Amino acid sequence: MKKLLASLFAVALLVGCGTATSEGAPATTETETTTTTTEASGDAKTYNVGVAIYQFDDNFMTLYRNEIESYFKTLETDDTKYNVTIVDGKNDMAEQSNQIDNFITQGMDVIILNLVQTSSADAIIDKVVAAGIPLVLINREPLGEDGDESYKGILDNATVCYVGADARQSGTFQGEIIAELPDKGDLNGDGKVSYIMIEGDPENIDAQYRTTYSIKALEEAIPVECLDDQVGNWAQAKGQEITANALSQYGDKIEVVFCNNDAMALGAAAAITAAGRKVGENIYLVGVDALDECQEMVKNGEMTGTVLNDHIGQSHTAVDVAVKALKGEAMDNYYWVDYVKVTK
Ligand code: GAL
Repeated sequence: MKKLLASLFAVALLVGCGTATSEGAPATTETETTTTTTEASGDAKTYNVGVAIYQFDDNFMTLYRNEIESYFKTLETDDTKYNVTIVDGKNDMAEQSNQIDNFITQGMDVIILNLVQTSSADAIIDKVVAAGIPLVLINREPLGEDGDESYKGILDNATVCYVGADARQSGTFQGEIIAELPDKGDLNGDGKVSYIMIEGDPENIDAQYRTTYSIKALEEAIPVECLDDQVGNWAQAKGQEITANALSQYGDKIEVVFCNNDAMALGAAAAITAAGRKVGENIYLVGVDALDECQEMVKNGEMTGTVLNDHIGQSHTAVDVAVKALKGEAMDNYYWVDYVKVTK
């Protein structure tokens, strides 16, 4: 049964046009390492916290990492200080693996990790556990065999946990945002919704689930037709390029542009305007994250909707769990933060 479920899961992830191709990772511009140190005086205890982010050049993860840093500051007391070091994995797993080795050598008291590749989760978990350092995985969920929350490296290690949001929920909300429109997304009244899909990094379960579950939810309301499905690697410039190409190829046939995140939706919005189309009148556009600028666009009608990816809730939970671990308290295996649908 387990094997059958695993195969069904693998097939489910292929839903969409099945034509997605990787276009290469977005350019990395920020490479710095951030360190926040507050000198402890007298008997105060300073904890060393290592935070490894998959890539600094990512709108959502920038909000997330900044919030980790500032939330740690708010938890400091006269007796307890946090020396937080944040490093940029530059979307390179070998680089990130070295950064984790450095964290171990530097004797970090806890590590918060946004993996570059979840396929490397075991290798990293093994070395961090062997070094006796608690590990809080964030944002990129390594999945168990059945595509559920049963990753052995997490279940088997009392000092390893995952903090995140269930990407199936965000995909479902995107599909529902379109399905709940008066015309269910069928602008031309031909009885089906013709869409293009712009995907994040295909190795990332957020991209896979959002692609699958958005369409699954919409299909429950109306038949769909996929015109194009491309990989934009979470990046605005790729979102713009893919949408511009699709609009010139398929023109008025495109009724909905689904983007796995808001950065790519920002690019799509620019391409839509450049092509003389108007969101809400002759095309619909949805993203995920609810970046401030996208919330504004939803209000103004320049985006049909987005889904709040709660970076505040997730970063605070990750930090709270890290602090628990520092105090020697037990942690759960998984911590979940809900997505929220955002429409006008
Ligand atoms: C997603 C987010 C994307 C991107 C990605 C990185 O949850 O929606 O914008 O930041 O994580 O893994």
